[in-house]
Amino acid sequence: MTELNAMLPFTAPQPAEPGRVVVSDAFDLLRSLAPESVDLVVTDPPYESLQIHRARGTTTRLTTNWFATVPNERLPELLREVYRALKPDRHFYLFCDEVTADVIKQQQNVGGPRLPNGARRCSCGFTYWKEILWAKTTLDGAKIRGGTGYHYRAASERILFFEKGKRALNDLGIPDVLMAPRAGVPGPAVKPSAILRTLIAQSTQPGELVVDPFCGSGVAGVEARKLERRFLLGDIDLAYLDPSLAKLAPNGAVVARASEVPPDPREPPDLEELVEGTAGDDELDAARACGWLDDDGAPCESLEKLLALRPKEREAAIRRALRIEAERAGEPSELRAWRAWALSGRRR
Ligand SMILES: C[S@@+](CC[C@H](N)C(=O)[O-])C[C@H]1O[C@@H](n2cnc3c(N)ncnc32)[C@H](O)[C@@H]1O
Repeated sequence: MTELNAMLPFTAPQPAEPGRVVVSDAFDLLRSLAPESVDLVVTDPPYESLQIHRARGTTTRLTTNWFATVPNERLPELLREVYRALKPDRHFYLFCDEVTADVIKQQQNVGGPRLPNGARRCSCGFTYWKEILWAKTTLDGAKIRGGTGYHYRAASERILFFEKGKRALNDLGIPDVLMAPRAGVPGPAVKPSAILRTLIAQSTQPGELVVDPFCGSGVAGVEARKLERRFLLGDIDLAYLDPSLAKLAPNGAVVARASEVPPDPREPPDLEELVEGTAGDDELDAARACGWLDDDGAPCESLEKLLALRPKEREAAIRRALRIEAERAGEPSELRAWRAWALSGRRR
């Protein structure tokens, strides 16, 4: 038994409480579930083709090595375990890109003739219906936002829609293109809450159990809770768990995003006040801590450079200077508040 297995809080019976978060390998978690005990699985595995985007290195976001990936050879096992854990007449949604969608269809022999209803049968038992598209929009939702790649920008992600047995969607009028901006919260590939809300609302009833074994931020649980569904979330790394779920994480699990309480953003004073020493003591301390003033309160080169800028350019340069430098342990809270201001985008 691995260390992760030892942290699994249950074996066969499903959790009776409204929500649970565990640190676990996804395959172990799925295997620990009783057969036919789950109402919906919605998940976003760290599929192998994510490495292609990383290797191309088209954006910093994708070149960041966020997490270990699950090799393609293990995807059939994933589908098998999900199929086993689902009750009859239930749905399964799997987020992926075009490459992994192809891999899964090949593995499941989905290319063959269609059933009379237009769907296709998978080797593991699911009926495969179609790819739902998450079309990524600008923040205001007004336009599709171009992504990466040079053969038409990739502005969408796939959600493969599987069915075990037969279950009607709750709202038959929802289209198969779902529009939403990126989630915009820290964490690897966090999916938008609006998309999860739609999928859960479409495929479950209140009180039913939603499982995401690669939960990341746990957005599936956050939305399940809002819709009064029960949820079980698992991940090998809960660092990016949504703060509202932190209390459900096992003791000792690192929930960095939740524990980090960002200070209220505060704008630095006019730089002249720092030079003249007329700024507050906390502000002068912060300026020393970020290397703008030396120990005697004299301006350092970095501050001189900022002072030399035209007033119009100064604010952006101050923000950039505060943003690019990594936060050091034990910084004064005033400086952390300046850094929060630099990140927040709030203007003077
Ligand atoms: C693409 S992210 C999921 C993001 C999530 N959908 C969200 O919206 O925040 C994949 C997640 O799988 C986790 N992971 C990687 N390998 C795992 C494994 N073997 N078992 C469980 N989780 C794993 C990673 O830690 C990462 O959080």
